[in-house]
Amino acid sequence: MALSHSDRPALVQRLRAAGCVYAEDEADLLIAAADSAAALTDLVDRRVAGQPLEHLLGWAEFCGLRVAVDPGVFVPRGRTALLVAAAAAVAGPAPAVLDLCCGSGAAALVLHGRLAPRWLAAADIDPVAVACARRNLAPLGVPVYQGDLFAAVPEQWRGRLDLVVANAPYVPSGAVALMPAEARLHEALVALDGGVDGLAVLRRVAAGAAEWLAPGGHLAVEASAGQAEALCAVLAGAGLVPTVVHDEDLDATAVTARRPA
Ligand SMILES: C[S@@+](CC[C@H](N)C(=O)[O-])C[C@H]1O[C@@H](n2cnc3c(N)ncnc32)[C@H](O)[C@@H]1O
Repeated sequence: MALSHSDRPALVQRLRAAGCVYAEDEADLLIAAADSAAALTDLVDRRVAGQPLEHLLGWAEFCGLRVAVDPGVFVPRGRTALLVAAAAAVAGPAPAVLDLCCGSGAAALVLHGRLAPRWLAAADIDPVAVACARRNLAPLGVPVYQGDLFAAVPEQWRGRLDLVVANAPYVPSGAVALMPAEARLHEALVALDGGVDGLAVLRRVAAGAAEWLAPGGHLAVEASAGQAEALCAVLAGAGLVPTVVHDEDLDATAVTARRPA
């Protein structure tokens, strides 16, 4: 039987029983997203079956902005607010900025509003993510390139970038199977799997940043707290000068790394 909008208490109960911690908020969002009782039933069925709320709604809230998120695309996490804040804090005036491994383009979207970049672009290897990021960023005139890390970026920017933000995948391969089903089953593996120690993509980001940053420019990356020391060694090995920032409340760790002038 289709749910009607007046069945909110039953809907909340069903979501709670399925393990949704914020069942009341989710119920309200799903009710608002459905244009019929049948559509609401379908959304709730899919949520109870484990699909991420954001994929069902088609958007995620990130740093106070609504970001479009298509099925399969990495859902921007609240903890990445620290990465964006750390990146904005080291950016100089009118920077040239690249959001590498952009996913939905959430970081670029926020930085567009926080900085006054003279150039801002995003890039990702996954065509589904690129299409999603274009939906978020094209209205702002921000280009989104598809390709493997810096190979996607126009050559003219080599050695001229002031800020590279990269929330690259950093989950060790062996830990992907331990992730919540919402991530494991509904986000692309390429968005999660960071290789044996989780730092495989970040090693390549660090090496590329040493070439693509302008002297005095900064790379900003995210990792787990336990990876911070090894990541700093990687960044230092690439000739960059790392600084770790951590936020207990967000359970977030970011590292900024400066290319010496
Ligand atoms: C953890 S997700 C982060 C997405 C987005 N930055 C965010 O914070 O919501 C990592 C992203 O890196 C992309 N990615 C993985 N390997 C890549 C590579 N070699 N080149 C470019 N992008 C890559 C994935 O497609 C995915 O969108």
